Amino acid sequence: MVNTKVTLSGLTLDNPIIPASGTFGFGYEFADLYDINILGSISCKGTTKEPRFGNPTPRIAECTNGLINSVGLQNPGIDKVIGEELPKLAEHYKKPIIANISGFSVDEYAYTCEKIDSQKQVGIIEVNISCPNVHNGGMSFGTNANSAFEVTKAVKAVTTKPVYIKLSPNVTDIAEIAKACEAAGADGISLINTLMGMRIDLKTRKPVIANKMGGFSGPAIFPVAVRMVYQVYEAVKIPIIGMGGVSSARDVIEIMLAGAAAVQVGAANLVDPYACKNIIEELPEVMEKFGINSLEEIIGGSH
Ligand code: FUM
Repeated sequence: MVNTKVTLSGLTLDNPIIPASGTFGFGYEFADLYDINILGSISCKGTTKEPRFGNPTPRIAECTNGLINSVGLQNPGIDKVIGEELPKLAEHYKKPIIANISGFSVDEYAYTCEKIDSQKQVGIIEVNISCPNVHNGGMSFGTNANSAFEVTKAVKAVTTKPVYIKLSPNVTDIAEIAKACEAAGADGISLINTLMGMRIDLKTRKPVIANKMGGFSGPAIFPVAVRMVYQVYEAVKIPIIGMGGVSSARDVIEIMLAGAAAVQVGAANLVDPYACKNIIEELPEVMEKFGINSLEEIIGGSH
């Protein structure tokens, strides 16, 4: 019998599989499909201080082996998330969850993280400084080591739960940004968010997405994710949640060998709502095939 348990900042997960923020709602929406308690954890829909309607449509462009999204952090705002969404999730999911928080200023990140920190079911706060689809916020904090440091420091000053900073791949030196977050007190790093992409419609000769550009995700970006997890693992001592195009148990093992202590599955949920369930079910067999008794033993095993 293989051991799929992993530990993140003192939290033991039954397995490393976590649906990525923005691809799984607040989790309860999937409870009619299967018992979501099989999931290692859930990274909830990105939440901001104020409610957000999101970007104009079309927001999605299909691509070979992936898709581009420009959702624009649509969400009901922190008060409704705490008052309505998390209680609904708690009815169905009995394990610690990951709250994903975005902002448009350092103060806003701190305000929203402090509020979510009070929620009992929140095990980890994932601070998204890498959304490519909003102006004056999101990715602008994650593409500069100084601002990544400032956000991390401000959030750590007002929270008690482990704080993981979600990084953008749209940078020259991901290790430098990860190190700045670690120096500011981050408990872990999540990576990678989406790569900036664009499609143009041949008939209209215009961008497919109303916002012109968006974030590219899906199996096509998996090698980029593996490379960046590998680089960050060499640069920091804090745990990494790896993500970016993961769509099979073999991918899970590969990104863990690069250095991920747990793994988020994103775009695959948009193609198949059972993607996480399928990966969890196939994981023991694939572990056995590659002679892996315990997943914890393989973290960073390729270094
Ligand atoms: O547009 C969005 O809501 C995407 C968010 C993200 O990639 O972090």
